[in-house]
Amino acid sequence: MRIVSSIAEVKDAVAQWRTSGHTVALVPTMGYLHAGHESLMDAARAACGKVVVSVFVNPIQFGPNEDYDSYPRDLDHDAAICETHGVDLIFHPEVQEMYPEGFATYVSADALAETLCGASRPGHFRGVCTVVNKLFNIVQPNMAFFGQKDAQQLAIIKRMVRDLNMNVQVVGCPIVREEDGLAKSSRNTYLSTEERQAALVLSRAVKKGYAAVEAGERNAAKLKQLMSDVLSAEPLARIDYLEVVDGLTMQPIDTINESVLVAMAVYIGNTRLIDNFIFEE
Ligand code: PAJ
Repeated sequence: MRIVSSIAEVKDAVAQWRTSGHTVALVPTMGYLHAGHESLMDAARAACGKVVVSVFVNPIQFGPNEDYDSYPRDLDHDAAICETHGVDLIFHPEVQEMYPEGFATYVSADALAETLCGASRPGHFRGVCTVVNKLFNIVQPNMAFFGQKDAQQLAIIKRMVRDLNMNVQVVGCPIVREEDGLAKSSRNTYLSTEERQAALVLSRAVKKGYAAVEAGERNAAKLKQLMSDVLSAEPLARIDYLEVVDGLTMQPIDTINESVLVAMAVYIGNTRLIDNFIFEE
């Protein structure tokens, strides 16, 4: 496995693989890898001849008061994980390499990025779309793997690929959870022991919501009430948003039919965690 930091080295490696007839998969990450990321690597490994993992804490997707500086970073840990999952190349660029002096071009997602996390984090998805677009251009993968954990991000990337005619197949992978239900996240490391326990309220709300929809609940307001009752019972939890949206357009709906995304962001102390479920009829 190679670890490279320049765009030229990635392009060279991929060009050589192409000459040998390999297909290429990309798994974009911000590092501090965990089992959620590992599931994407495994899916990539199974689907393509060569696997590239990018590890880059992308400054332009963080707001001014967000955790860019404190976001956990540990390349040795990440490299060890990638190695065990058969990754061929880690791309770990410096900020300068991705955003040199004079960088001025961005990709934005408009309506899809105005709800949910996009409403709470202005500019976030513009930063995500821009960096993912750059990574797609640098690696030119046949397939790219993203987690359902960030459901809105996945929907936006799929739409970007369609709208801009990109030659990459975007694959969504299921949410990986801790044994007790908490969705795996690099940000879980911020939680104190007490907060870690309190954070279980997110997956509890997801479970309750999913069960209600499965049992026939089709009224979005009632579903939200049921789930916010679960969340409000936890004193350390503060709801950022809890929304029932169309799975494709990310716009709020009143009545559940076809494909729905039920998504939430909840502060546990100072840590903002997200969770969701999708229901398709
Ligand atoms: P990051 O938060 O590191 O996540 C990288 C990928 O791992 C994303 O596709 C995310 O959905 C997936 N992932 C994270 N936790 C998961 C879990 N518990 N189960 C399944 N998949 C999970 O998302 C980003 O980085 C960035 O926005 C990025 C796309 C790399 C652009 O900077």
